Amino acid sequence: MKRSVNFSFHHMVRIPEPELMEDFTQVESYAKADFESAHSFLVRKLQDRIPLRFAPESILDLGCGPGDMSSRLYLQFPMANFTFLDGSEFMLDFCKKRIDTLVPKKRNNKIDFKKELIQDFVPESPYDLIFSNSLLHHLHDPFEFWAAVQRSMHQDSFIFISDLMRPDSVGIANQLMNRYANGESEVLKQDFYNSLLAAYRIEEVKEMLEIVRLDSKLNLEPITDRHWICYSKQRN
Ligand SMILES: C[S@@+](CC[C@H](N)C(=O)[O-])C[C@H]1O[C@@H](n2cnc3c(N)ncnc32)[C@H](O)[C@@H]1O
Repeated sequence: MKRSVNFSFHHMVRIPEPELMEDFTQVESYAKADFESAHSFLVRKLQDRIPLRFAPESILDLGCGPGDMSSRLYLQFPMANFTFLDGSEFMLDFCKKRIDTLVPKKRNNKIDFKKELIQDFVPESPYDLIFSNSLLHHLHDPFEFWAAVQRSMHQDSFIFISDLMRPDSVGIANQLMNRYANGESEVLKQDFYNSLLAAYRIEEVKEMLEIVRLDSKLNLEPITDRHWICYSKQRN
């Protein structure tokens, strides 16, 4: 009998979440959550990996949510033109409010907020920096995410993507929830737990990159016990 390797037989199977975060209570608790330590860590990783003196003129944030990472990106590159995209109206409203408090009245750069599904997103022109945090695990077909990235990039774009990775068991998911979301509201704890179960394993992400032939362009590495990053390789 022919035997094949089946990873999901050994590991916990993925339990998808709804793609969009549209429930107002869920959105509000996510918008109010304290992401300071996780997100400042991610920004440092981005700074470490991005080429020295790279000055993107255009930046895309896919699945920007309520804009905690978006505002950090904006502060990092205040001269760039931005597109902040999310399919959820509530999320995008929060993001817009947050960005508006940072942006001076008189400015020269363009800041677009797009309420759109990534599946429908066709950029007018490619972006110098493509960023996405914590979106991939929401997608039922992950290749729709990679297709949106591929539609949005040019030869020299810098890509930086991060997300959660699915642990081996529900026991570990519970431990992670208790370790990292303990002080948070019940809604947020449940959200984090569901996201861990919906996340792709790093082996699965690696396979996706091979299938869409981005593996020669992007590095993929775990950075904590629950996050991975994927970013453009330095070119010589
Ligand atoms: C977990 S939040 C991450 C938000 C933000 N990037 C951050 O780091 O805090 C995921 C966001 O992706 C959005 N989203 C999920 N699926 C989407 C899709 N197919 N098209 C556009 N946005 C989507 C959700 O509405 C939600 O705001």
